Amino acid sequence: MLDAPKKAGATGATAGPPTDFQQHLATLEAQGLVVRVDRPINKDTELHPLVRWQFAGGLPEDQRRAFLFTNVVGADGRKFDMPVAVGALAASARIYSLGMGKPVEEIEAAWSNAIANPIPPVRVSSPPCQEVVIKGNDLRGAGKGLAALPVPISTPGYDAAPYLTATLAVTRDPETGIQNMGTYRGQLKAPDRLGVRMAARIGGAGGYQHWRKHNKMKTPMPCAFVIGAAPTVMFTGPMKLPIDLDEMAVAGGLAGAPVRIAKCVSIDLDVPADAELVIEGLIDPEFLEPEGPFGESHGHIALEDFNMSMQVTAITHKRKPVFVSIISEVTPSESSVVKRVAYEPMFLAHLRDRLSIKGVRRVVMHEPLSNLRKIIFVQCAHGMPRSEVWRALSGASTLLADCGKICVAVSEDIDPTNADAVFWSMAYRMNPTDDLHVLPYRSAGHGPKTGTRGSDSTLLIDATLKSTAPPLALPTREFMENAKTIWDELGLPPITPQPPWHGYSLGDWADDWETFARRAVNGEWEANGRDTLARRRGGVTPETPVREVEGKK
Ligand SMILES: Cc1cc2nc3c(=O)[nH]c(=O)nc-3n(C[C@H](O)[C@H](O)[C@H](O)COP(=O)(O)O)c2cc1C
Repeated sequence: MLDAPKKAGATGATAGPPTDFQQHLATLEAQGLVVRVDRPINKDTELHPLVRWQFAGGLPEDQRRAFLFTNVVGADGRKFDMPVAVGALAASARIYSLGMGKPVEEIEAAWSNAIANPIPPVRVSSPPCQEVVIKGNDLRGAGKGLAALPVPISTPGYDAAPYLTATLAVTRDPETGIQNMGTYRGQLKAPDRLGVRMAARIGGAGGYQHWRKHNKMKTPMPCAFVIGAAPTVMFTGPMKLPIDLDEMAVAGGLAGAPVRIAKCVSIDLDVPADAELVIEGLIDPEFLEPEGPFGESHGHIALEDFNMSMQVTAITHKRKPVFVSIISEVTPSESSVVKRVAYEPMFLAHLRDRLSIKGVRRVVMHEPLSNLRKIIFVQCAHGMPRSEVWRALSGASTLLADCGKICVAVSEDIDPTNADAVFWSMAYRMNPTDDLHVLPYRSAGHGPKTGTRGSDSTLLIDATLKSTAPPLALPTREFMENAKTIWDELGLPPITPQPPWHGYSLGDWADDWETFARRAVNGEWEANGRDTLARRRGGVTPETPVREVEGKK
């Protein structure tokens, strides 16, 4: 059914990152990361809800898989030859890292290096993405053109149509000639027409800036929707790259080799030659068309907005393409993972390397429901000067216009991926009158448009530990580890330790108390009783700290 992988060895492992989508899929399959579903699956009602369960069903991220549906049918009974892959780009950080051909820890360096050292693409003729070319009347009429593609409905029950989601929408700046590639959704409107949404907000879509120029010039904007390409190429779509940087060359930098490109058959744009499928068209420079409703990654349904309208001029694809879809809407989802894996290290590098804030340990963007952009946690080393903590908070809240509405600094003993730990830190380490600032003038960013749509503001919270504190009140590590061994020996249900899962010192702990605790676990607690009997005294009120009377030891 699928094309043979090009460079994959017997195990499916490759030397560098995969050079096309099907090679990536073969690598995932060799690692046991693909669930093949051969029974008929309805793309309009069943396909996305099934994959949704791995995000909504309490599975740990490392157990998420890519799904490959080989027997796709439509709500109208139509059968599709083209298989559909979902979750293959970023169901988990591991799947993303296999697409990059790099461990997760090296992903930030890979992006920085690719941006600093882009490798221009090379043009080829007779590209695989144009083995089949559909034009003219073959694009029009029932079941033809876009209607012949197995495009799933992402949010059955709310979405108005099947939507393209795993896209790389290529446009060209009509003044500079530089191409942009962005991941934008595309709504099926007719066999030869798409609704296209390029975000107009500050920090929104690069393609929108191109459209504004076409709007002024009153010239249709050529646009190519690429579906399915090497992950290193696809990942440039959701990444925030400097405007006017040729993203195809950045993709080359990521892959360590030039991307093979080809001229579109009906418009003047370059697309990845090894793409699975390309939808070429012209976007009206003036007339917009209602688009939506569609389930959005801010966790609400995006209601109808006027957005762009694209007349399809050609559809080209491989002889045996795989159609790719991304699961988005409420987070966590594939669309939040694809951003998180690249954005978090980008924020860390900004604070630590560009702003030279030495104590910053980690940046975590809150993913469940809130979708990364709104809430950012900055983990800081113990003892970091408060002024540096505040510089880190300011930096995290200003790097991107639509990220960092709420930024919270925590100390290095707090795991920022654990919201309960963050709340614990805020409860005991933050005094709202001193450690909380609200700054005016933030653009509303990515969110539902119902209700107030004016400007927003920024909340910065320093919830770091500002002095010493008594230890975390859990058994110390050795006791918890020993108990875990017993737990396992007893065959109790498997557990996943949730930090903090053992006690540790926070600086306020005396040698005497350490001695007490050691004696207690050795069964010598009566010695402690003899010690305190000798220190009995009158004239003090209950709950008076001993140190206030005896002095600090
Ligand atoms: C699955 C998915 C769907 C997205 N849909 C849209 C969209 O419809 N419109 C949009 O402007 N951005 C969308 N985004 C976010 C953009 O891809 C992101 O802002 C990216 O940086 C845009 O690239 P650009 O800066 O080159 O425009 C989506 C991201 C993902 C992962």
